[in-house]
Amino acid sequence: MGKISLKPYNDYCPQTLFLYGTYDENGNPDFGLFCWFTYLWDGEMGAMCCIGGEKTTLENIRRSRVFSANLVTEELLPAADHLGSVSGRDPEKMKIPLEIGKGEVLEVPVLERSPVNFELEVTDFITKHDGTVMLCKIRNVLQEESLSSGESAEQKLRRIAPVKTTCHHYFSYEGKDLGAWGEPRKKLSEGAR
Ligand SMILES: Cc1cc2nc3c(=O)[nH]c(=O)nc-3n(C[C@H](O)[C@H](O)[C@H](O)COP(=O)(O)O)c2cc1C
Repeated sequence: MGKISLKPYNDYCPQTLFLYGTYDENGNPDFGLFCWFTYLWDGEMGAMCCIGGEKTTLENIRRSRVFSANLVTEELLPAADHLGSVSGRDPEKMKIPLEIGKGEVLEVPVLERSPVNFELEVTDFITKHDGTVMLCKIRNVLQEESLSSGESAEQKLRRIAPVKTTCHHYFSYEGKDLGAWGEPRKKLSEGAR
């Protein structure tokens, strides 16, 4: 197989998308869209993620050390695309329709329409020149009840339809192109963008 060498790059390596939920210092929820999220092992499963630069999500996590990671599904994609395109510093950002609840174990906002919500507590902040890696304990996983049914994993995944991203596009669980970054949010009503 012929190969070409490239600079640091991750096209064709699809990543699962999560919306991270945090509270600001006044208790208002903020959600941002993230894909640099994976798992670690330290006697039990944990999570690790990277936030590039300075973002509202990171400021809120530094203060509280806790956040939620909410699996993004096709149903949530227009809102997720918006939350990944607009900075938390924009006071209009969170003025879109979202059903926001609370974690069971940690003081974190969670998305009711997301079928899997991780409640995460940061144990280590690894601060680099222009990015921060966070190692986290998974304090709780909230999972939609129907995912405990007798269906196969394949049937459940088709039903909840998690979204992946690569090449600056969103892809369905089955590989269909769901649009370039910035496109799905156009489905939100005019007033909500
Ligand atoms: C598809 C997609 C994936 C993203 N993944 C990340 C990520 O893993 N890490 C990161 O630092 N920013 C990521 N971003 C950018 C943030 O979502 C964006 O900066 C957002 O405005 C942050 O929200 P906040 O300002 O409320 O924290 C991503 C954006 C998109 C569209």
